[in-house]
Amino acid sequence: MPGSSRLPVSLRDTFNAQKQSPRGRLLVLNIEVLRNIIFILFLLRWTRKLFYQLKGRGLTGSAADLYNYTRRTLYGIFLRLPGVRSKVKAQVDATIIKLEQKLVPSGPGVERTTTLPAEGWTDEHVRKALKELETMDHTRWEDGRVSGAVYHGGDALMKLQTEAFGQFTVANPIHPDVFPGVRKMEAEIVSMVLSLFNAPEGACGVTTSGGTESILMACLSARQKAYHERGVTEPEMILPETAHTAFRKAGEYFKIKVHLVACKAPHYKVHLSSVSRLLNPNTVLLVGSAPNFPHGIIDDISGLSRLAHRQKIPLHVDCCLGSFLIPLLSKAGFESEPFDFRLKGVTSISCDTHKYGFAPKGNSTVLYRSDDLRKYQYFISPDWCGGVYASPSIAGSRPGALIAGCWASLVRQGENGYIDACHKIVGARQKIEIAIREKPELASDLKIVGRPLVSVVAFLSETLDIYDIADAMGEKGWHLNALQNPPAIHVAVTLPIVAAADKLIADLVEVVEEVRERERKRVESGVAKKGAVKGDTAALYGVAGSLPNKSVVVDLAKGFLDTLYKV
Ligand SMILES: *Cc1c(COP(=O)(O)O)cnc(C)c1O
Ligand SMILES: *[C@@H]1O[C@H](CO)[C@@H](O)[C@H](O)[C@H]1NC(C)=O
Ligand SMILES: *[C@@H]1O[C@H](CO)[C@@H](O)[C@H](O)[C@H]1NC(C)=O
Ligand SMILES: *[C@@H]1O[C@H](CO)[C@@H](O)[C@H](O)[C@H]1NC(C)=O
Repeated sequence: MPGSSRLPVSLRDTFNAQKQSPRGRLLVLNIEVLRNIIFILFLLRWTRKLFYQLKGRGLTGSAADLYNYTRRTLYGIFLRLPGVRSKVKAQVDATIIKLEQKLVPSGPGVERTTTLPAEGWTDEHVRKALKELETMDHTRWEDGRVSGAVYHGGDALMKLQTEAFGQFTVANPIHPDVFPGVRKMEAEIVSMVLSLFNAPEGACGVTTSGGTESILMACLSARQKAYHERGVTEPEMILPETAHTAFRKAGEYFKIKVHLVACKAPHYKVHLSSVSRLLNPNTVLLVGSAPNFPHGIIDDISGLSRLAHRQKIPLHVDCCLGSFLIPLLSKAGFESEPFDFRLKGVTSISCDTHKYGFAPKGNSTVLYRSDDLRKYQYFISPDWCGGVYASPSIAGSRPGALIAGCWASLVRQGENGYIDACHKIVGARQKIEIAIREKPELASDLKIVGRPLVSVVAFLSETLDIYDIADAMGEKGWHLNALQNPPAIHVAVTLPIVAAADKLIADLVEVVEEVRERERKRVESGVAKKGAVKGDTAALYGVAGSLPNKSVVVDLAKGFLDTLYKV
C-alpha cells in the first residue's frame, strides 16, 4: 500500500483492518460512491448554471458582465481606501445638508410639533395649521408645472371624493359584515377594470394600495405558483430594463433573480430574442410594460405573449401608467397596439386607478387571467391564536374611505369621461412631441425617444447636456423627470399640464436657446467642461453616470430618505 504510507499510524491501521474484512471494504466503497455522487451533483449544478449563463447572455455578454462586475468591485475597494472614504463621506454629507436646508423648513419663525400637544388644539387652530401646511412654498402642480405626480380629475371630482371619504371614514374592508357597502364597491371596482382590459370568463383580481403593491403581488404569485407546481426554488424573472423599478423591489423582497434585457434605440422596446435566450427552467415570470415609465413606449406585448404562451410561463403586463388611457386609445381615435387579455399569453395586468383613473392616491388593481394565479398571492393563517386569519394582499386593515373615493371616481367619470380625458391628455402629448420633432429651434438639438403612443414623451440631446435643460426648466418653475441610461428627460402629461402645454413648449424653446448659447460661450472662452457651473440634476446625473460603482449615489439617496423624517 504505497499510497497509505503517509497516513498516521493509527488511522492506517484501522484503514487496513477495514480493508481486510469484506464489511469494511463495503463501507469504504460506499463512502467513495457517496463522495463521487456529491461531486457529480456539484459539477452538474455548476455546469447547468454556466450553461444557462452562456445561453442567456452569450460569450461576449458574459465577458461584459464579468468585466463590469470586476470594475464595480475594484471601484468599491477604491472607494473604501482610507483617504478616499473620508473625502467621499465629507462630500456626501455636505450634499445631504444642502438637501436638508431645501426640504426641511428652519429658522426661528418655524413652529414645530415634535410631541403630542398636552392639551388638544381647538378645531380652529387645527384648520389654520392645515391651511398653512397646504400652502407651503411648492412647485406649482396646480398650474400644470409638474410632470406626472398629480393625476387630477378636476375640482368637481375631488369634491365628490372628499364627500365619499367623509361617509366611509371608519370603514375597513377586513370586516365585510360590518361594512358590506365597502366590500361591494371593491368587488365592483375590480369588475369594472377587468372589463376595460377585455378579461375572459373566469378572470379575477384584487385591489391594492398602489402600482408597486400590484406589481409585488403579481411577482409573488408567479413565484409561489412555480414553487408549488414546478418545484422551482431559485426563481428568476426577465424584465425589460425600462420596466418599473417596483419589479426590482419584488426581486429583492421575494428573492427572485432579475435578468434585465436591453431596450435599444431606435424603438426602445424590449429585445425579444434576448428574452428568449434568457429563458430557463427557473424562469417564473416574463414582464412587459404598456407603456413604460421612462419613455412611455409600449413593449412588443404580442411577441412576449407568443413566447410566454409557447413556454407556458406567466406574462405580466404593467399598465400602471397606461391605466385608464391605454384601453381607450382606439375609442378616442388614437393609434394603439395590442396589450391586454386578448393576447393569449398575458396572465396578469396591473392597472393604477390612482393614475389616469383619477382615484385618490393609494389605489390600484392587479388582474389575473384566472384564479389559478390569484390564489397564490393570498395569505392565510389557519391556526393563529387571534383566530383564522386571511388577507388578500400586504396590508391587514385597509381604509374603506379610499375604496369609496375610488368607486365614486370610476362611476362619476364613466367611459365617456375617461375617453374625454384621453383625448385631452394624449392630444397634449402629441402636441409637445410634434413641437419637439418639427420646430426647428427644438429639432436641431432635441430628439424624441422612440415612438410614444400614450401620455409620456421623453427626449434626449446629442449636442447639449440634457440635464442642463432640465435644470433650466426647473428655474422656470417646471418639474420634469430626469432619466438615465441614456440621459434624457420626460414629460408625463396630466390634466393640469394639458392647459399649460403651450407655455411648456414656449419655455422649452427659450431654455434650449439659452443652454445652446451658454455652451457656445463656454467653448469660446475655453472653460473645461468640468469647470462649468452645474445645476442639481446635472451635478447628480453627470457624476452618477460615469461611476462604475454607484455606492455614492446609494449613500446620497439614503440621506435623502432620512431627511424626509427630520422635523
Ligand atoms: C407609477 C408606475 C408604477 C407604480 O406606481 P406606484 O403607484 O407609484 O407604486 C408602475 N409602473 C409604471 C409604468 C408606473 O408609471
Ligand atoms: C457595463 O457597464 C457599462 C458602463 O457602465 C454599460 O454601458 C454596459 O451596458 C454594461 N454592460 C453590461 C453587459 O452590463
Ligand atoms: C460598491 O462599493 C461599495 C462601497 O465601497 C461596496 O460595499 C460594494 O460591494 C461595491 N459593489 C460591488 C458590486 O462590488
Ligand atoms: C384603495 O386603497 C386601499 C389602501 O391603500 C386599498 O386597501 C384598497 O384595496 C384600494 N381600493 C381600490 C378600489 O383600489
